[in-house]
Amino acid sequence: MSIRILAALAIATAGAVVSSTAAAISPAELQTSLAAEARQADPAFREFSAQRGETFYRAKHGGDWSCSTCHTDNPAMPGNHAVTNKAVKPLAPAANPDRFTNPEKVAKWFKRNCNDVLKRACTAQEKGDLVAWLLTVKP
Ligand code: HEC
Repeated sequence: MSIRILAALAIATAGAVVSSTAAAISPAELQTSLAAEARQADPAFREFSAQRGETFYRAKHGGDWSCSTCHTDNPAMPGNHAVTNKAVKPLAPAANPDRFTNPEKVAKWFKRNCNDVLKRACTAQEKGDLVAWLLTVKP
């Protein structure tokens, strides 16, 4: 292996370490904190349901859009923004490992997209159900 390739590898590895220290979490950690939030909102809360999550994802909630409008019927596939037509990477972690690892990004887009689709914020239970289902989706 040439010195140049070794140097490039060293830089790439260092970059990965730096970006992963920016408070990265795993989808499982996200689920743990959503579960705590759901329990606080409703002491009867037991666990998230992937089946409820899929129904939620496909439902229109009284408006024109569902989550699948931009994230497609199969969230393991890339989608398109319904208005701007901009490409949207797959939402399922199995197809896109960056998903649900950056708490700020997750919060920002849940807020925006839930508001666009439901005209309100999603509850912790709705978010947890959705992530539970997305974690079962295989590419
Ligand atoms: C009008 C188009 C549109 C609709 C409808 C939509 N989304 Fe999104 N969503 C986006 C875009 C654009 C992004 C950000 C670009 C990207 O990350 O690929 C995004 C990103 C996200 C993310 C960020 C995940 C991460 O960790 O990167 C979540 C969570 C999300 N959407 C959830 C939802 C949910 C839940 C619904 C349905 C209630 C929904 N979206 C409906 C366009 C949409």
